[in-house]
Amino acid sequence: MTTETGAGEVRAQQLRDQLADQLAASGGVTTPGWRQAVRRVPRHEFLPRFYAWQDTDGGPTAWVPVTRESVGEEAWLTRVYENTTWTTQLDGSDASWEREGPQFGSPTSSSTLPGLLVMMLEHLDVADGDKLLIVGTGTGYSTALASERLGSNRVVSVDVDPLLADRARARLHRVGYSATVIAGDGLAGHEPGAPYDRVIAFCSPTSIPSAWLAQARPGAVVVTTLTGALGGYGLVKLTVDEAGGATGQVLPQAASFMLARSQTNPSPIRLRDRMGPSHGAPRSARITPRLLDDNAFRFTAQLAVPDVMRFTVIDDGTTYTHFAHRHDGSWARLQQKGDGWLVEQGGARALWTELEAIHDSWTEAGSPQPAAYAISAGADGSQRIWAGGTELGFTGTSAARDVG
Ligand SMILES: C[S@@+](CC[C@H](N)C(=O)[O-])C[C@H]1O[C@@H](n2cnc3c(N)ncnc32)[C@H](O)[C@@H]1O
Repeated sequence: MTTETGAGEVRAQQLRDQLADQLAASGGVTTPGWRQAVRRVPRHEFLPRFYAWQDTDGGPTAWVPVTRESVGEEAWLTRVYENTTWTTQLDGSDASWEREGPQFGSPTSSSTLPGLLVMMLEHLDVADGDKLLIVGTGTGYSTALASERLGSNRVVSVDVDPLLADRARARLHRVGYSATVIAGDGLAGHEPGAPYDRVIAFCSPTSIPSAWLAQARPGAVVVTTLTGALGGYGLVKLTVDEAGGATGQVLPQAASFMLARSQTNPSPIRLRDRMGPSHGAPRSARITPRLLDDNAFRFTAQLAVPDVMRFTVIDDGTTYTHFAHRHDGSWARLQQKGDGWLVEQGGARALWTELEAIHDSWTEAGSPQPAAYAISAGADGSQRIWAGGTELGFTGTSAARDVG
């Protein structure tokens, strides 16, 4: 659906057709319904302005504004219809758009890579008449795709940012979709729209929110990424059961999204004042923190300790790899010494000792990749993981508090 006519719209339709063909050729879209949605939804109506990523030779990413006015209609449209994620908001506000030139900041909203959106939407296995809950409206583009496929009256979409929700609702209306768009914490779902047949999230929680399960029908499908404070990712698909829990698996495809805003990491500087007392002199670490550079172990570790984050600290000229719990004051800091590492820990828990034990369990299970994991989520918010039929007995739940 679209409101524009004229040369710009003809060109936009060409570019949409190309995008749909490209996704079909690469296997990114396999069903006629979603392919038709890509052909019909005018992504340019949802992306009047966005930021292009620019490398700064080792420095922080610079975000270069792109609008029809700044680069001309053809360049703007061409970029809009690339199979690319376009960042639309930095640091949770519009302030960067009031400044000129390249910007620096952390992305807090975007229009997701179309190939990723459609791959996730296809995993929902929708049927006509299904009612869908979308968590993370962003620009509204994915809500438009779903409205095109299922009908606007079958789609409820929630974004935590009221400004983004209002903007997405207005854009959807402008191009003819009337999906329900709500401002609120999508981890709580949207009870008035329940029950849902399908739930999908375009931001990442640390575990499956119990509200999604409570608001879904038995047999409903949930597709989301799971993440944690360490930043590992897994894409999961679960089916809701009669008891209000859900079972499923981690999918083989790679996908990552920004953390759900209520679960984002605080700045390390804010944790400094709550560090608990040291447990004593450093000891030799049994494992290297570099193991956490690999998503398989990082994802697995954060299922157990979803609130533990990692950052680098330079203290008196010494570089430390620092781990800290987002809420309880526990910490561990590691310093490389020759081929090994020394670790000092503090606070209520011994975080590094916990991570060493998690690594032992994971290697005993054969160091499985996340795609080997079966996952179950309880109606009470609990979460369990199996690899090859053996339960990995260390799943933790996050304290969903915003301290950032
Ligand atoms: C990657 S963007 C979604 C993009 C969207 N798929 C699109 O096509 O435009 C993620 C969005 O999730 C939203 N978000 C973050 N935490 C949320 C939460 N707890 N509940 C609802 N939305 C949330 C952010 O404000 C952001 O707009």
